[in-house]
Amino acid sequence: MPKLVVVTREGDESVFEADTGLSVMEIIRDNGVDELLALCGGCCSCATCHVYVDPAFAAILPEMSDDENDLLDSSDHRNDTSRLSCQLQMTDELDGLIVTIAPED
Ligand code: FES
Repeated sequence: MPKLVVVTREGDESVFEADTGLSVMEIIRDNGVDELLALCGGCCSCATCHVYVDPAFAAILPEMSDDENDLLDSSDHRNDTSRLSCQLQMTDELDGLIVTIAPED
């Protein structure tokens, strides 16, 4: 099973087993990291699942939809590595993916 590395806002790092049937948001939430609010439950309508993805993985991430792009634009903390974690499906190829939870808007 691939692994997902999650860094909290305080810089605490955890490594989780990452079920490929789940989104990155679901893996973070199911492992009890409660600072990722994910208020809309993954419907791509809240942007509270905002994470920064390690640039080393940028080339193999799924493409960003217009909806995701628009929602990220509503964040004051968007940067070049921003993604909504509910829109990132975990795959074997993403083994070792490192995400940092973005500051709350
Ligand atoms: S959980 Fe709401 S946009 Fe991702």
